[in-house]
Amino acid sequence: MLDVTSAEALLPSYLRDVYSWAYLTPWLAGWLDRQVVVQTILWGNAQRLIGDVLDEIEPGDRVFQAAAVYGDFSRQVAAKIGRRGQLEVRDIAPLQVSLTRRKLSDLPQAHVARGDAADPQEESADVVVCFFLLHEVPDAVKLQVTRAMLELVAPGGRAVFVDYHRPHRFHPLKPLMRRIFAWLEPFATSMWRHEIKDLAGPRGGGFRWRKRTRFGSMYQVVVAERI
Ligand SMILES: C[S@@+](CC[C@H](N)C(=O)[O-])C[C@H]1O[C@@H](n2cnc3c(N)ncnc32)[C@H](O)[C@@H]1O
Repeated sequence: MLDVTSAEALLPSYLRDVYSWAYLTPWLAGWLDRQVVVQTILWGNAQRLIGDVLDEIEPGDRVFQAAAVYGDFSRQVAAKIGRRGQLEVRDIAPLQVSLTRRKLSDLPQAHVARGDAADPQEESADVVVCFFLLHEVPDAVKLQVTRAMLELVAPGGRAVFVDYHRPHRFHPLKPLMRRIFAWLEPFATSMWRHEIKDLAGPRGGGFRWRKRTRFGSMYQVVVAERI
């Protein structure tokens, strides 16, 4: 069995080089893993965006969550599906797997394990959720993740992608977001140039796509329903 150190050596370079502080540093991860922090980072929009995800989920659904999310996102999803549902959470970083496992330990419908969203090797699900993962991965991985998520959608099911989007031209926070991305999130501005539907390539053809934007278009919620 891999210990945490050797498992972390196998992590993708984008995670080690760019996001080590946020996801691989235990004391900071423990501090960031609070709903108030997520709400602040998303300019007060976290709950509204989580609500958009919950609207796509029914009690009893099998939900696949591609990567861990700080705060109580997964607890809210688990509450929505209830004890008859099933929530499978994956994350590529062992530290995030253990933090998430601890957060969900009293919820038997939730199961957390290590996994790569670009190559998930999982059972299909009624709802596949990808919450603010795409902007944190390089463009080539964005394509792999988007396509892999669609592959996992069961007949009649859907994939829900929530992520950054190009803000309106005169959005007062646009210049600041551009600076934050240049400083901390080098793969994020590409979300301003590409539609998630286009990342799916030909695989997107078997889906009905819907998109809504939030907060002056800074965020997007894209739903792909398997036809
Ligand atoms: C969902 S994203 C961003 C979420 C958002 N910033 C938050 O937590 O509020 C963060 C997670 O993605 C994970 N991650 C990055 N690349 C991944 C991959 N290829 N497969 C699965 N998880 C991945 C990171 O380890 C991290 O825990």
